[in-house]
Amino acid sequence: MDQKHYSIEHITGDHEHEPVVNHSGNRPFQSVLSARMERRTVMKGGVGAALASLMGLSALGLAGCSSDDDDDDSGQPGDGGSGGSVSLGFEAVMPSTANEVVVPAGYTATVFLPWGTPITGGYPEFQPDGTNTGAQQEEQVGMHHDGMTFYPIDVKSGGNSSEEGLLVINHEYIDIDALHQNGPTVDAGVRTVTDEVRKEIAAHGVSVCHIKKTDGVWDLVFGSEYNRRITGATEMDIRGPLRGHDKLVTAFSNDATATRGTLNNCSMGPTPWNTYLAAEENWHGYFKNDDTPLPREHARHGIGTGTRYAWETATGGTNGEYERFNATSIEVSADLDYRHEPNTYGYMVEIDPFAPESRPQKRTALGRFGHEGVIFAPATEGEPVVCYSGDDSRFEYIYKFVSAQPYRADTASGDLLDEGTLYVARFNEDGTGDWLALSLDDADFVSAMNAAVGTQVGDIQFDTPFADQGEVLLNTRLAADIMGATPMDRPEWGAVDPNTGEVYFTLTNNTERTEDQVNAANPNADNATGHIIRWSEDGGDYAATSFQWDIFVFAGAVGTETVVDGEAVVTLDESNIFNSPDGLWFDGSGRLWIQTDGSDAAPYQNNMMLAANPETREIKRFFVGPVGCEVTGVTSTPDQTSMFVGIQHPDNWPAGSADGHPRSSAVLVTKDDGGVIGA
Ligand code: FEO
Ligand code: CA
Ligand code: CA
Repeated sequence: MDQKHYSIEHITGDHEHEPVVNHSGNRPFQSVLSARMERRTVMKGGVGAALASLMGLSALGLAGCSSDDDDDDSGQPGDGGSGGSVSLGFEAVMPSTANEVVVPAGYTATVFLPWGTPITGGYPEFQPDGTNTGAQQEEQVGMHHDGMTFYPIDVKSGGNSSEEGLLVINHEYIDIDALHQNGPTVDAGVRTVTDEVRKEIAAHGVSVCHIKKTDGVWDLVFGSEYNRRITGATEMDIRGPLRGHDKLVTAFSNDATATRGTLNNCSMGPTPWNTYLAAEENWHGYFKNDDTPLPREHARHGIGTGTRYAWETATGGTNGEYERFNATSIEVSADLDYRHEPNTYGYMVEIDPFAPESRPQKRTALGRFGHEGVIFAPATEGEPVVCYSGDDSRFEYIYKFVSAQPYRADTASGDLLDEGTLYVARFNEDGTGDWLALSLDDADFVSAMNAAVGTQVGDIQFDTPFADQGEVLLNTRLAADIMGATPMDRPEWGAVDPNTGEVYFTLTNNTERTEDQVNAANPNADNATGHIIRWSEDGGDYAATSFQWDIFVFAGAVGTETVVDGEAVVTLDESNIFNSPDGLWFDGSGRLWIQTDGSDAAPYQNNMMLAANPETREIKRFFVGPVGCEVTGVTSTPDQTSMFVGIQHPDNWPAGSADGHPRSSAVLVTKDDGGVIGA
């Protein structure tokens, strides 16, 4: 999310969903013009890139990613194309200001499962004037579609149906004005109509939609047992090192094993065992805490004295249903109030879409931060499970989890995510990188932590060392600060190239980075347009503790160059200018799809999705969304002939929404000849 701020914020003062809360000042590689620099990928030219061009001449040898090599047709899987590369065989779509989805000639885009589509229970009909109740919203698709994954209906038995499956969709947040008939009811800062709040909580979360293609037309399977809503109120379990921890005790769960709800589910990641991990990104804005001083596990996340939607002011729920959003210490002990409720958020939440009665599981071993999403490396029998997750705030970090137990295809489950090592990335200026363990079992970590005791780490006075691994994970950001991780330009989605194994991450933008804060991996001050970074793990081992990185592309206006060794390897033109890359996904052939959430003014116009060849760095615009939206979320059937793309927070779309109730939606993209999308 980046673009839309709605009226409720006028009562909360929360205009900033992704505040700068890392004041640790980690600048391990600030001297980017240093003569020691051995390798550099730099940005040149284009509007706003003048500063970067100062750095354009210093690159020497190139270590790093194999796809920079001029290798030839090495025979990659997938649908082919010339020279062993994936093909981008469509005519690029030009920038558009049209209030519609634009796709290339020969393709069709269709609105699919928009906000309010009835999917469970009594299948309550969507009311376009916003008059559906909270209970009805609990049986309808949520708002603000984001990350999504298609699971073939037969995948658990080894199948790969492209005709029927479960489409699981995140709902990041809400347009509170559009959600209700006349916007939210607020009296002196108090939410006086409880059902409005119930509806808002129900419009968050995740939708599981059983869909099937009949006579060439996709539709929801009415009455399917798989159709399900998970919301900001659904009961879920705490798993991993923080299960049962003192700092997660609440009046709802005195033994700290459970909580209610998942919120601000931005991106996600399918697991190798075909479950779904929904990320909790900007959850901090839903909670308040009037205590002074704030506990460090709240302060480091920017929890303040106001909330985004003032849910804590609603009354009439059961068992603190709304009061829980106020984390102020009210009673004499934590088992009687909700001072620890925010400590039950900030995780990756596992949902088994094939087990509709199962409770979602918050996997705390993957760390607590502003999880944008998660991407799993391909699982290998007998090897650890590895996944990557970015923390989308300015100057935050990229993390990797390596399971303690090996992957076994016949028994793999979410239990693998409860025990392992969480690492944070340090991008060295010479193109190497290190994964720094955040673990009390790691001597370097213990040493760094002990050295930090009694010092100021950013805004946090670090007087008390972490007592146990649960506290390390609860304070993941602070632990990463202490280890000297590299502060990034807002890490959003990651993706793993199925052909090379390289890991890609979007760094969407960071206009607050100053010249003395640049580092080799984030080399642009006032980075308004963002870039995409990638790395290969040393030895081809995803569990390795070191890697080689480079910058895949700098986003920007016409003429923006990505320069390697003095040579422009990408020069953006009208067919592929973009800004603020966010969604990122590899299709089964190895085509890289890039989605944007940035400026929709000229020259970029409406937000978009592009396709890239990771080997040649050819990039072409494939899709432009309607006015005011971000394009976020993409998945396809295994045969790649049906693609689902998310449209979030459109201004006034799709057609028929002129009454002020626009609808976020998935969009089904097909090729008119039934072929592979993008080929
Ligand atoms: Fe929800 Fe970072 O985008
Ligand atoms: Ca974004
Ligand atoms: Ca995003």
